[in-house]
Amino acid sequence: MDAKSIDQVYSFYSGFYDVIWNKVFHESREEGVSLLGLRGGERILDVGVGTGLSLLFYPHNCKVVGIDLCDAMLQKGRDRLARHRYAHIELYEMDAMKMDFPDNSFDAIFAAYTISAVPDHSKVINEMIRVCKKGGKLVFLNHFKNGNRLISTCEKIISPLTKKMGFRADLELSTLFSGKPIMIEKRQSMKPFNYWDLVLCVNQKSENGNGQQRCR
Ligand SMILES: C[S@@+](CC[C@H](N)C(=O)[O-])C[C@H]1O[C@@H](n2cnc3c(N)ncnc32)[C@H](O)[C@@H]1O
Repeated sequence: MDAKSIDQVYSFYSGFYDVIWNKVFHESREEGVSLLGLRGGERILDVGVGTGLSLLFYPHNCKVVGIDLCDAMLQKGRDRLARHRYAHIELYEMDAMKMDFPDNSFDAIFAAYTISAVPDHSKVINEMIRVCKKGGKLVFLNHFKNGNRLISTCEKIISPLTKKMGFRADLELSTLFSGKPIMIEKRQSMKPFNYWDLVLCVNQKSENGNGQQRCR
């Protein structure tokens, strides 16, 4: 999966994405935002915000920035902002592998169904660590490979197909954070079928406020 093919695939999905993926993941997105434990005045980043299905859950006294690679997905999000007059939210077309934000720009970051859809998850995690403040919360809502050997084997087999569809089904949580200054505080299974995971992490980067090489 490269950025160009991700853009093409999600441009195609953008017209009907909400019809399929709104209701089925509605509660999980709400739970994910609530896990961020947001307080008034905080700055939040939503990585791979897509059509903005998480946006209604953010408190209006926070400042929210959503980024996505795919302009067609973002256009749906912009329509949503206009409809609801969400003045506390801004959306930008931006690659999460090389964000334009300075270090320590955000108090918390949410990535819903994104980390398995990016071309290089390690670069995205490095950027999340960089732009999030030390001690800030990072919440991932995603499917991660689980211990079930039958399911894992099936996922491995269909992996080339799912990549063409814009996501990986075989991402392992243990390797995702390997070598990164991230501590997992909580992991819980989510509907449907407990196939999805909500993972709350704390950014434990070094005191100098960066602790990660910028990956370009
Ligand atoms: C499955 S969708 C999830 C959208 C939304 N978070 C939700 O809950 O419905 C994955 C999104 O990640 C975006 N994406 C993939 N790679 C990206 C990257 N490198 N930078 C920013 N967004 C990216 C895609 O364009 C797509 O909108």
